[in-house]
Amino acid sequence: MDLERKLAELKRRDALAEAGGGEERRARQHKDGKMSARERIEFLLDEGTFEEFDKMVTHRCTDFGMAAQKTYGDGFVTGYGRIEGRLVFVFAQDFTVFGGSLSEANAAKIVKIMDMAMKVGAPVVGLNDSGGARIQEGVMSLAGYADIFLRNTLASGVIPQISAIMGPCAGGAVYSPAITDFILMVDKTAYMFVTGPEVIKTVTHEEVTKEQLGGATTHNEASGVAHFMAHDDAECLSMIRELFSFIPSNNLDDPPRRECTDPMDRADAEIDNIVPAESNQPYDIKDVLTRVIDDGYFFEVHEHYARNIVVGFARMNGRPVGIVANQPAFLAGVLDINASTKGARFVRFCDAFNIPLVTFEDVPGFLPGTQQEYGGIIRHGAKLLFAFAEATVPKITVITRKAYGGAYCVMSSKHIRTDVNYAWPTAEIAVMGPEGAVNIVYKRELERAATGGTSEAEKLEAMNRMRQQKVEEFRDRFANPYVAAERGYVDAVIRPRDTRKRVIDALEMLQTKRDKNPPKKHGNIPL
Ligand code: HXC
Repeated sequence: MDLERKLAELKRRDALAEAGGGEERRARQHKDGKMSARERIEFLLDEGTFEEFDKMVTHRCTDFGMAAQKTYGDGFVTGYGRIEGRLVFVFAQDFTVFGGSLSEANAAKIVKIMDMAMKVGAPVVGLNDSGGARIQEGVMSLAGYADIFLRNTLASGVIPQISAIMGPCAGGAVYSPAITDFILMVDKTAYMFVTGPEVIKTVTHEEVTKEQLGGATTHNEASGVAHFMAHDDAECLSMIRELFSFIPSNNLDDPPRRECTDPMDRADAEIDNIVPAESNQPYDIKDVLTRVIDDGYFFEVHEHYARNIVVGFARMNGRPVGIVANQPAFLAGVLDINASTKGARFVRFCDAFNIPLVTFEDVPGFLPGTQQEYGGIIRHGAKLLFAFAEATVPKITVITRKAYGGAYCVMSSKHIRTDVNYAWPTAEIAVMGPEGAVNIVYKRELERAATGGTSEAEKLEAMNRMRQQKVEEFRDRFANPYVAAERGYVDAVIRPRDTRKRVIDALEMLQTKRDKNPPKKHGNIPL
């Protein structure tokens, strides 16, 4: 009898916690097209696996009449559960309780699960929907943020950290997601900014909406802050589950392998004809890579940002790999500031979490121009070079066409410890394209040729004839993979249709690869 009473009391308290900020506020959340914090966790995790911590924690603030406004859980739902059977820690901010704002008490809840996740080596997923620091708590709330930032930093490279932005995320609160590995944003309901439209209006007199300033489109296309864009909460949470299928639980683990039914020696004849005969013609590198990877399934990261480089996850014979590919269909696949930082970040994630890298290369070089130079293309381009060079995971490169200049060195070349480098017969490996090379190397000869003949037309013709002849000479010498092959800079020139088999063979060979960097506190990647 006594136990029954006690159980009833437990039930009552549980129900209080689950009610959050109440029916009315929850209805508003639904009306805005958003799930509640608990609905999100339920959707994210395998059914029935959620174990909640700190359900009855309350805030300790007494200022501004707060003593009378306590809610069990204090607006954050935290705990652990499973995704495809694998352990994951999760927190969800409940916008119905003080706008999901961060207090001293609920910050401690996040800290608790993060510390636990580090101890057991499991990822952390944060579902963000918050008005930022709990205004009534002042510096105690700020301290809570800083406690979380520290843990985000220490956990970086040890356990994967994923942030979904499913409502507001403003002010300093953006810096926790910013330190994590991947940010997903829900279109129209999520926004992130350091200072909001009102502050901007006061300081710079710019007029901008929340959506324009920090909506999902802005951060996926323009700033590159976000890696994925979802149309609604359900899609966002499904994407997190999908992302999980490619990544390990921690830095000592291997990524999960799946059974592969796609024949490993599948030779796709169509791939032979994708690269156009004219080397200035574009083609879509995704037409190449989807023919090489298992079942043509590519899970693209940063799809809408710096589209001149393509990055994302795929499987080769069931094992996850990270793909990095120049995209000739966008800006001719040139490397610019945004493409370099996008590529570098992805390479470093894969290297930190034991995911082999497969690079498809067709790059005419770095983008020229004052905008790029003033913006620091030297520093940013160096990030990609640094990232590839320091990576110790298995690395394979396939040169499909252009590998020009510094970009040849940067794009996972043999010289920076890439294990297996293949080139297609269509590869052109040179300091620059033949036309550019001739204009520099034969500048004086071309000028001299232009002085022969009698009429202007004859002079021009003589110069063009000479240029054409020199271009052909350069093309014969360098617009092929054989000079590099003679030096061993590429290990083999392969038929495009054999790429899948050759890459899988190389990955299998490299499975036991061991390599490491010299002992040091940490490198100094050019930030
Ligand atoms: C306490 C908050 C709150 C906050 C919202 N609420 N933000 N309570 N601290 N930071 C409460 C509201 O009082 C309200 O309570 C409920 O949450 C819902 O808020 P609304 O304003 O009604 O919702 P909406 O119109 O959707 O607007 C959402 C919002 C707005 C844009 C997020 O609430 C807002 O601007 N909040 C303040 C944002 C902010 O400046 N935060 C501090 C940023 S600085 P009731 O009881 O009415 O439901 C920061 C520093 C971090 O975060 C430092 C890290 C280094």
